[in-house]
Amino acid sequence: MKTAASPASLIDVRNLGKTFPAGSRLGFGKQTGGVRAVDGATFTIAPGETLALVGESGCGKSTLGRLLLRLIEPTEGEVLLEGNNLVDLPAARMRAMRAQVQMIFQDPYGSLSPRRSIAQIVAEPLEVFGLVRSARERRERVAELLTQVGLSPTFMDRYPRQFSGGQRQRIGIARAISVNPKFIVADEPVSALDVSVQAQIVNLLQDLKQQRNFSYLFIAHDLSVVRHIADRVAVMYLGRIVEIGPKKAVYGSPSHPYTQALLSAVLEPDPDAAKTRIILKGDVPNPAKVPSGCSFHTRCPIAQPVCKIERPPLAETTQGHFAACHFAAPNPIPVPPAGSGTLTPATASV
Ligand SMILES: Nc1ncnc2c1ncn2[C@@H]1O[C@H](COP(=O)(O)OP(=O)(O)O)[C@@H](O)[C@H]1O
Ligand SMILES: [Mg+2]
Repeated sequence: MKTAASPASLIDVRNLGKTFPAGSRLGFGKQTGGVRAVDGATFTIAPGETLALVGESGCGKSTLGRLLLRLIEPTEGEVLLEGNNLVDLPAARMRAMRAQVQMIFQDPYGSLSPRRSIAQIVAEPLEVFGLVRSARERRERVAELLTQVGLSPTFMDRYPRQFSGGQRQRIGIARAISVNPKFIVADEPVSALDVSVQAQIVNLLQDLKQQRNFSYLFIAHDLSVVRHIADRVAVMYLGRIVEIGPKKAVYGSPSHPYTQALLSAVLEPDPDAAKTRIILKGDVPNPAKVPSGCSFHTRCPIAQPVCKIERPPLAETTQGHFAACHFAAPNPIPVPPAGSGTLTPATASV
């Protein structure tokens, strides 16, 4: 596969995979083969670029984000940060690398320790990496960081419970940017917030990126949230990236039927638009029993018999825009005319 990788990549992910062993999580005791949470992820992120990662719940987005920061160990593959493979970096060098990568979590309620003051929370990474020398310097840095995320420095001696969801997410962001990272994984950073504050937090993340020029992997479960912040978009289904490309291409001419369905779910109602809403059949299949061939075939509105048998590779459709669909590839298999009677409809019983 052509990967559009360039030596200027900040992050270069190659054939990254993660299988969770069977029964490794409560309630998964009965399965036999384990869960293939991420399969064959290959992509790059340039310095200062925001790659949005979208897909329904359970498709492997958080696992992929955590793999990039080596918060969990991959089953196979490589994650290069400026050319250094994080996957086999010795512990001491990995520790140094940790200052360059940070994570912003979905749940601002659960991710801040309730017994620590805002100053302690925000300054923790600075202390871990020895970036402040005195208590006074620490308070000065915390005051600056709180100001940068739109909070008053007078908040620093308070505790998380005294803040709203949006404010807590700002505290989490202040903490993440404290060490001036090059790369941030933001895992659904606004999903737990009221709709009214979601845009404020997305705008803050966008402003900070422009000021500091770091790169994001910005995870979201639908395409509306990332519309303004993304440079490129990757769409994931059952552990695999099924489409990736520049934002304009993915929103303007989505190639994969799954992307088309996700997009139709967030379209503004427009009486003149020819686009109609695509309703997907059924739920995401059990990730411990991924369907054969194209794993989307059980829900795909245009599935053909070949889709049940052959897994389509990610193929370039237009410049820098890739999709894993037999009917979106540069040389698509011709679709037999409707009503030709030779087709068996895809079923969910694979
Ligand atoms: N620690 C774990 N042990 C076992 N299975 C896991 C673990 N973490 C995630 N999974 C499984 O991996 C799949 C992908 O999960 P996740 O990455 O959280 O998806 P998403 O973030 O897209 O909702 C799911 O089937 C989930 O149950
Ligand atoms: Mg998740």
